[in-house]
Amino acid sequence: MGIQITPSILNADFARLGEEVARIGSADWVHVDVMDNHFVPNLTFGPTMVEALARSTDIPLDAHLMIEDADRNALEYVDAGCGSVTFHVEAAKAPVRLAREIRAAGARASMALRPATPIEPYEDLLPELDMLLIMTVEPGFGGQKFLDLCLPKIRAARAMLDKHGIETWLQVDGGVSLETIERCAEAGADTFVAGSAVYSADDPDRMVAELRAAAEA
Ligand code: DX5
Ligand code: ZN
Repeated sequence: MGIQITPSILNADFARLGEEVARIGSADWVHVDVMDNHFVPNLTFGPTMVEALARSTDIPLDAHLMIEDADRNALEYVDAGCGSVTFHVEAAKAPVRLAREIRAAGARASMALRPATPIEPYEDLLPELDMLLIMTVEPGFGGQKFLDLCLPKIRAARAMLDKHGIETWLQVDGGVSLETIERCAEAGADTFVAGSAVYSADDPDRMVAELRAAAEA
């Protein structure tokens, strides 16, 4: 598995989501940010909308659940057709059980950490995960500035994954752009979410290619 570019549709035109996804044809995944106005102070969409989006594209969906009570709601997004489902560890009461349920339901299981959440307490969970998401902004909104203070955590996570010899992908999300993606790749990330960088570009698919080239450099 090499570099993967995963555009977030958070900054796309929600009235034309099918067309917006068609503008990023070379993306590896489409990142869908589910927000419930409790875990984060913003509200987006739920499983019905995600299911409609899954039907509209051949690109697999990467759901990022910024919702309270992840244990109770995450499987709805597997049922909605997502190939990967990320819950926040801060919102999961039983992260090991939840990761196993997501895998058993047929999706990749992924766990996210907010910027202030340390990775060390979760080292033993890593083999349960197909992907670990290290947030590089406080979740809730697109277009925020990349937090350099998260880079040591990306490095620490990369060292743990290598130590365990596991294939878990390491994703970064928040403020990823042509200016910051090389720093993330150098620290060990291999899966990159980019929202405003992609959808503010004149040609979003060209930006996907440019981000990929920068991450591979
Ligand atoms: C933020 C979301 C991100 C967001 C990224 O809470 O999880 O996926 O869309 O947007 P940018 O790339 O603009 O920071
Ligand atoms: Zn996200």
